[in-house]
Amino acid sequence: MRFPNMLRAMAMTACLVSFSSAAPAQTSLKMGYALAPTSHYGAGATAFAEDLAKRTGGRFKIEHFPGGALGGEREMVEQVQLGTLDLVVVSTGTVSNFVPETGIVDIPFLFRDSAHARAVLDGPIGQDLLVKFPARGLIALAWGEQGFRHLTNSKRAVNSPADLKGLKIRTMENAVHITAFRTLGALPTPMAWPEVIPGLQQGTIDGQENPISVITSAKLSQVQKNLTLTRHVYSPALFIVSPKIYNALSAADKKAFVDAAKAGGAAMRKFVDEVERKGVDELMRQGMQIVPKVDTAKFQASLAPAYAEYAKKYGQANIDRIRNYK
Ligand code: PAF
Repeated sequence: MRFPNMLRAMAMTACLVSFSSAAPAQTSLKMGYALAPTSHYGAGATAFAEDLAKRTGGRFKIEHFPGGALGGEREMVEQVQLGTLDLVVVSTGTVSNFVPETGIVDIPFLFRDSAHARAVLDGPIGQDLLVKFPARGLIALAWGEQGFRHLTNSKRAVNSPADLKGLKIRTMENAVHITAFRTLGALPTPMAWPEVIPGLQQGTIDGQENPISVITSAKLSQVQKNLTLTRHVYSPALFIVSPKIYNALSAADKKAFVDAAKAGGAAMRKFVDEVERKGVDELMRQGMQIVPKVDTAKFQASLAPAYAEYAKKYGQANIDRIRNYK
């Protein structure tokens, strides 16, 4: 009679041992982004991964795929829609091809400064944009940031819109950007990011436009001589997750993903603040010729026909709501 009791006790002990020694199941998720691990995207992705691990007791592990290892931004967003990639950190410049309403934030000279942009994105206008994503097969968790976009080129110093005439400027595949550069007299050449550095090296394009965060991390000083600090477009980024992953999470894990993405966004903003403080001097030391300031009013006046197009597309009241947001 004592033998079965002993067996039962042994089985229970074995059960307890295997229970207590089993590590919590870990889900590995793939996160793609276009830039180097040392960039603002890398900083945001790392902060997201660390924060998510803390909030979920290490149940989610993020595998990084930086430097466009999984393709251009457009391709990565498509993969997230399909569920073959779990997460992407990406610029709104790409996202407006999927969620057209986000194109409004790419309008030139819309935001006064970073504080204005961050307040808009973190407030009701930005939050209303995030809720447009599920209808397009994507879940936007939180806003990140690249900074203000500036112009680089290999031909000449650009001081005014007239200097842009005839320059072949690579733009993102983004209708708002393309309209702006065409209106300013440049020859906009939309192109995916992985083709940009070879294009600049081979001379198929004369210039490109991106924030200091990108110009430094992609080492554009090696392929471009002139930098004009135009601050023509504020460039937000987004943390996006595949609905296939997100919709299967518990409510608590969904909140953990959103909070981790907010931590990632805060890390990106901190990185951008730092790089905007030091990056221009670094680029000057690397030999870039810098035009430190342009007459913004002159650029805005030249953009008048583009602004009329944006008003038709996004509604003047919506644009003014952002412009006048306090
Ligand atoms: O210019 C672009 O394509 C984007 O700004 C970049 C560099 C891929 C970052 O999102």
